[in-house]
Amino acid sequence: EDMSLPKAVKIKLDETDPKKVTLGNGTDVKGTRVRVFGRVHRERRQKDIMFITLRDGYGFMQVIFSGGLSKTYDALTLTRETSMEICGELREVPAGAHAPNSRELHADYFRIVGKAAGGDDAITNRVSRDTEHATLLDLRHLTLRGETASKVLIVRDAVEFAFNQVYKELRMRKVSPPALVQTQVEGGATLFKFRYYSEEAFLTQSSQLYLETCLPSMGDVYCIEKSFRAEKSLTRRHLAEYSHVEAELDFITFDDLLDHLEHVICRVLEVVMDDPTIAQHVKELNPEFKMPERPFMRMKYSDAIDWLVEHHIENEGMEPHKFGDDIAEAAERRMTDIINRPIFLTHFPAEIKAFYMQKDKDDPRVTESVDCLMPGVGEIVGGSMRMYDLDELMAAFKREEIDPATYYWYTDQRKYGTSPHGGYGLGLERFLAWLCKQHTVRDCCLYPRYFGRCAP
Ligand code: 4AD
Repeated sequence: EDMSLPKAVKIKLDETDPKKVTLGNGTDVKGTRVRVFGRVHRERRQKDIMFITLRDGYGFMQVIFSGGLSKTYDALTLTRETSMEICGELREVPAGAHAPNSRELHADYFRIVGKAAGGDDAITNRVSRDTEHATLLDLRHLTLRGETASKVLIVRDAVEFAFNQVYKELRMRKVSPPALVQTQVEGGATLFKFRYYSEEAFLTQSSQLYLETCLPSMGDVYCIEKSFRAEKSLTRRHLAEYSHVEAELDFITFDDLLDHLEHVICRVLEVVMDDPTIAQHVKELNPEFKMPERPFMRMKYSDAIDWLVEHHIENEGMEPHKFGDDIAEAAERRMTDIINRPIFLTHFPAEIKAFYMQKDKDDPRVTESVDCLMPGVGEIVGGSMRMYDLDELMAAFKREEIDPATYYWYTDQRKYGTSPHGGYGLGLERFLAWLCKQHTVRDCCLYPRYFGRCAP
């Protein structure tokens, strides 16, 4: 420490006076003396005045050090991300100047809580706009402090909360199915297998089958749990671990399912955008965002195939699409981007969909299934009516060469008071990629897991 420099101005302080406030709160009265805690987001000097943007996760505040304060050793050597305590008076910003919430804190006291590394090790030398994406992901713990990452995660918190609220409005009940399972739902190719004591087990791909078992005693149910997929390709919308919003509804028709899904998506958006902070974050991340128009476009798979042929969008074999083709990610996204509104794509052929899907009674080639497609991302929801006849379900297991023995708890549902029911799963990260206009779902979760990455 350079002892020739003046010390910070000492003012008598106790723990309660001035009052501690968080930075985002725009309602505190200007002219009052407050105490704030946070980290240096940015700092600049203009002659003898220091402007510091302080960040605490609730917002930002412009802080001004002038006079003796700006000449102290700690102020002169201040580094970004240093955590500090500051007291001072809140004032309106001068006309023509800009600051968060149009106010600034004129400091009369500060204390360094934790000094951040400087020089070569300064945070700005480790993460910046020019840092490669892979490096940013290695440094995810630091990238999280950036404005974009933190906004996305704050919106994510609001979205997850809104799903809970909207499901409560619908009198649906939340359950928590197991993550360690011994049954597959969405095909063997993406199963994460592991040794469970002396048995083989999997990380769950979907909680759907468990949700179905709750219907008889709990009514309509939902869960927000992790699902796991051993995806072997690197795409911008596939994670190995993702947050899955899943719901199951009893005694419904396929149309009921579509109406419910549309309601939930729109109502969640309404709740989220009702919060001014969140609406502002969404606006900054996705300036063109507007509420989707209702009703959503409903398009049958067979019409989508015709649409793709007419628009010369080829399948993965570089040939015109034909009935029975899986509509691959690229084609699906091109179609969604051109149509540029949410689409319910329905009635997929049975052979390209999961074993449990109910067949359409007017056209047994196809299932009562739906994918919800959003511009920029493509599929964000997959759902269907469930096969509820026991014999039909047993035949489906046989066709897929799945041993029904381990599914006894699932098939029993058809044995003891079966019912027409259906549900869906929504990928939370994909929903966010759409809402926050993020290029990849990797930027929509805290610490993404995908092929080749399981850290930090
Ligand atoms: O279409 P999927 O595979 O459907 C199911 O798992 C059903 N059992 C759900 C149900 O009916 N309860 O997955 C549903 C959604 C997809 O639309 C997508 O949004 C998301 O889950 N998803 C993924 N998100 C990120 N990474 C992955 N690897 C994903 N796989 C599916």
